[in-house]
Amino acid sequence: MQNKIALITGAASGIGAATTRRLVGEGVRVLAVDIDRENLESLAAELGAAVHPHRADMALREEVEGAVAAALTHFGGLDILVNNAGIGSFGRAGELDPEEWRRVMAVDLDAVFLASRAALPHLVARRGCIVNTASISGMGADYAFTAYNTAKAAVINLTRAMAIDYARDGVRVNAVSPGYIDTPLVSGMPDSITHGFVSRIPMARAGRPEEIAAVIRFLASEEASYLTGQNLAVDGGITAHTGQPDIPRILADLTETTP
Ligand SMILES: NC(=O)c1ccc[n+]([C@@H]2O[C@H](COP(=O)([O-])OP(=O)(O)OC[C@H]3O[C@@H](n4cnc5c(N)ncnc54)[C@H](O)[C@@H]3O)[C@@H](O)[C@H]2O)c1
Repeated sequence: MQNKIALITGAASGIGAATTRRLVGEGVRVLAVDIDRENLESLAAELGAAVHPHRADMALREEVEGAVAAALTHFGGLDILVNNAGIGSFGRAGELDPEEWRRVMAVDLDAVFLASRAALPHLVARRGCIVNTASISGMGADYAFTAYNTAKAAVINLTRAMAIDYARDGVRVNAVSPGYIDTPLVSGMPDSITHGFVSRIPMARAGRPEEIAAVIRFLASEEASYLTGQNLAVDGGITAHTGQPDIPRILADLTETTP
């Protein structure tokens, strides 16, 4: 991946920061985009000239388009677009503030379309690729995740739509759907909620941002040259599960508690 140029959104933290480190480690130059200027600057200071920090709010069309333009101006082209910035949201449909719905749609969905729209002519020119960070929350519903579930499901189908439309132009478009990953997005929750997440994961642990970065790196590389329009769940096995009870574990607990 030596000398490729990537634009990564949400690069200041979590999965985006891990992906920036991983790609820079493979010789990629990265326009690192985030709303969080401070963490962006410290990532750039850590990684040196291969990273160019660019502050932008992905909720604003002109700033999304400005970020793509900045990659072209600063590095002279674009090979890899990683649409990763995202925000969470909590609330059932009947109680959700329409302004929150709009903000989630703007950051989690509209920005994926707008950045891809602005980048695609340049990606076509260099036979580049797009990787979108969706979520397992786009593959099924969670209690009171209405806006997030909706936005991420749309990102998965936007991935497919762009993939088939640009396949003949040599541009691949894929998505990664993380499960429960240990990043600031989910940290700080009460222990009972953290336990609630982890206890449902067959691998019985949260994922690490580096484990998502590795899959993004694969999808963005020549190793994935015949792979397009796919959504890879990277989730410790949770979406392989029907949600029905773990009978062997229940029986083992019963034996333990029976005198
Ligand atoms: N952590 C998880 O368990 C998990 C699970 C599934 C999907 N995801 C997805 O992974 C992606 C990365 O999340 P993360 O877990 O690394 O979270 P994170 O909070 O650590 O990082 C998200 C980054 O996006 C940035 N961002 C937020 N709003 C922005 C805006 N308007 N403009 C520009 N940047 C903005 C934040 O400043 C932050 O640096 C998101 O799309 C998220 O939905 C995360």
